Amino acid sequence: MSQRISKQYGTTWQNMKDEERWKSFHYNQGEMHQKFHDWFELNPHDTVLEVGCGSGEQARITFVDHNYTGIDLSGVAIDLAVSKTKDVRHEFISADVMNHKLPTYDLVFSINVIDHVEDPNAFIDRLISVAKKTVLIYAYNGYYPNVENHVIAVNGTGDCYLNKLSVKELKRRFDCKCESLTNNHTIVEIPCE
Ligand SMILES: C[S@@+](CC[C@H](N)C(=O)[O-])C[C@H]1O[C@@H](n2cnc3c(N)ncnc32)[C@H](O)[C@@H]1O
Repeated sequence: MSQRISKQYGTTWQNMKDEERWKSFHYNQGEMHQKFHDWFELNPHDTVLEVGCGSGEQARITFVDHNYTGIDLSGVAIDLAVSKTKDVRHEFISADVMNHKLPTYDLVFSINVIDHVEDPNAFIDRLISVAKKTVLIYAYNGYYPNVENHVIAVNGTGDCYLNKLSVKELKRRFDCKCESLTNNHTIVEIPCE
């Protein structure tokens, strides 16, 4: 059965002020971010949207001199991203991707976000709706090929979802490829063309 968090969705990130904590989201899952970086070098796309971009580490690493838009519902994270970024081709938006009006992008990607959303399938539908060519989603909370349905659970402090994504449900619902990374993270790739 699905659990519910104790606060309004997004409050945890909206109140997170510590710059080091924002960086740690990226570097604690360094393998995934590096894997994405390597994938993008082999699969370049002209226009890119990162959903849940945090303080913009991936933008500064992978998208130097490249068209890039990052969206995050935390204004604190977006302020940090803007203050650290010099690249005129980078745009950051402080908003909830689920209801903010957006154009379409060749690539829409997201790392370490779907683990925490209220409804993973609705999140994927939304990403597909703003993608022209590819949706790429990395989830760090394990790879679950034998679980029938996603499990919507909460973390120990009760203020953040910590979902298990069911590979079976993903494949029933989306025309996607699912891959396990070496330490059991999940990559979901959805061609949209
Ligand atoms: C665990 S952090 C990961 C940040 C970054 N992707 C990384 O890996 O370092 C999850 C991020 O997703 C953002 N987020 C969650 N739901 C979102 C939504 N509906 N729209 C935009 N951003 C969202 C949060 O504000 C938070 O910055």
